[in-house]
Amino acid sequence: MEYSSSVAPVNESDKVKILLVDDQRAKLLSYEVILAGIGETLIKASSALEAFECLLKNEVALILIDVCMPDLDGFELAVMIREHPRFQRTGIIFVSAVMTANLDQLRGYELGAFDYVPVPVVPEVLRAKVKVFIDLHRKTRQLERLNAELEQRVRERSAALRRFNEQLERRFEERTREREKALEQLFEAQKMDTIGQLTGEVAHDFNNLLMTVLGNLTLLQKRLPEDPESRHLLHNAVQGGQRGASLAQRLLAFSRRQELQPVSVDIGELVSDMRELLTRALGFGIDLKCQFPSTLPPVLVDANQIELALLNVALNARDAMPGGGRLIISASEETQYSGAADSPLPPGDYVRIKIVDTGVGMDEATRAKATEPFFTTKDPGMGTGLGLSMVHGIAAQSRGLLRIDSAPNIGTSVELWLPQSNTRTESAGRRICDVRAIPGVNVL
Ligand SMILES: Nc1ncnc2c1ncn2[C@@H]1O[C@H](COP(=O)(O)OP(=O)(O)OP(=O)(O)O)[C@@H](O)[C@H]1O
Ligand SMILES: [Mg+2]
Repeated sequence: MEYSSSVAPVNESDKVKILLVDDQRAKLLSYEVILAGIGETLIKASSALEAFECLLKNEVALILIDVCMPDLDGFELAVMIREHPRFQRTGIIFVSAVMTANLDQLRGYELGAFDYVPVPVVPEVLRAKVKVFIDLHRKTRQLERLNAELEQRVRERSAALRRFNEQLERRFEERTREREKALEQLFEAQKMDTIGQLTGEVAHDFNNLLMTVLGNLTLLQKRLPEDPESRHLLHNAVQGGQRGASLAQRLLAFSRRQELQPVSVDIGELVSDMRELLTRALGFGIDLKCQFPSTLPPVLVDANQIELALLNVALNARDAMPGGGRLIISASEETQYSGAADSPLPPGDYVRIKIVDTGVGMDEATRAKATEPFFTTKDPGMGTGLGLSMVHGIAAQSRGLLRIDSAPNIGTSVELWLPQSNTRTESAGRRICDVRAIPGVNVL
C-alpha cells in the first residue's frame, strides 16, 4: 500500500517516509491528498498492527495516527511504538474526530505525540505541521550525521596524534641512547688518551734508561773475563733488561708513541708467513684456520707491529682455550661511510681482520676493561695486562680500530680495522717479528 508523491522537492534518496494510520479508507485518502504536495513518500496502514509492521520494515520519519481505531486504538499503538528502542524519537501526530477534549490531548502528549490535530483537518495547517516536523527530522538526522563525522574525525586525529607522539618518544629515546653512547665512547677515548700520555712519557724515559743499561751490559759482556759465574749473572741482567725494554715497547705501543714505518702490506700473505709461528704459539689442541679472499686489497701499516698485534691476540685466544678449541683468522674488505653512527673510524676503505676463538669468553665488565693497560685476569706473573692495550695502540696509530665482542663460554671475536693502501704491497725484505720480545711465546 505504498504511494509516492508526484511532487519531488528533494532528491529521491533524500525523501523521508510518512506513515498514515487510519481504519477508514476515505480518511486515509484525504490525508494522502493533503500531503501529496510536500514531496515525501507516503505509506498507508489501516490498522495499528499493520502500522507497526510498516514501521519495522521502513525507516519512518513521522506517523499520523487516528486515535479511534477498532482492536488497538491510536494511544495503544503509540505505547507500542515508544516501547520499541528504535522508535523512541519517531515523530507522532494524533488525528482525532471524537477524542478532542483537553484530557485526551494531554494523554496523547504524554504518550510522546508531537501534536494533536482535531478533525475536520484544515489541510494547510496539517501540511504546515507535517512540514515542520519533517524539517525537524531532517535537521536532527543531519546533526547526527555531522556529529558522527566529527567524532570519526576526532578519532582519526587522536590516533594520528598518538602515532606522532609515539614516534616522537621513540626518536627522543633513540637520540638519548645515541648521545649516551657517544658520550660513553668519548669518555672512554679521553680516558685512554690520558692514560696513554702518562704511560707514554714514563715508558719513554724508562726505555732510554734501559737502553743505557743494556748498552753498558753489552760492553761489559765483551770485557768480562771468562768467569762462568760472572757471565751467568751478566746474562740474567741482560735478560731482565730486555724484558724491561719489551715492556717499555708495549707501553709505547699503547700510548701510540712508537715510530711506525707504514708500508703497503698484503694481510693474507703476512698471516700466511706467520702461520708456522702461530701454530707453534697456539700449541696442541687448537685448530688454526685462515680464510682470506684473493682479492683482498693491501693495507697501509707497519708490518712488524701488525704481526705483534696478531700474535698477542692469538696468545690471548690460546690462554682462553686451555682445553683446546678453534681459532679462525679471516679478513674482508669494508667501507666506512661518512655519518655512520656508532663508529669512531673516519670514512674510507678498510680491511677488517677478524680473529675468532671458541674460548671461555669475557663478561661485559671484563670486555670493557680488556684494552686498559695493566688490566689482566691472569694469575700474578702470568700476564702484564698490556697485550690488548698494545694492539689497541697499534690499531689507533695506524688510523684503524680494535673492536672486541665476547660472550662467556662461547668465545671472543677480535676485529682489527686497518686502512687500505693505494699503493702496491711491499712484502720483499719483510721479516717476521722478533717473537722473543713477546711474553708467553716459547721459541723452539
Ligand atoms: N680471547 C680472549 N678470551 C677471553 N678473555 C680474553 C681474551 N683476550 C683478552 N681477554 C681478557 O682480557 C684481559 C687483558 O688482555 P691483555 O692481552 O691485555 O692482557 P693479558 O693477556 O692478561 O696479559 P699479557 O697480554 O701481558 O699476557 C685478559 O687478562 C683476559 O681476561
Ligand atoms: Mg694478552
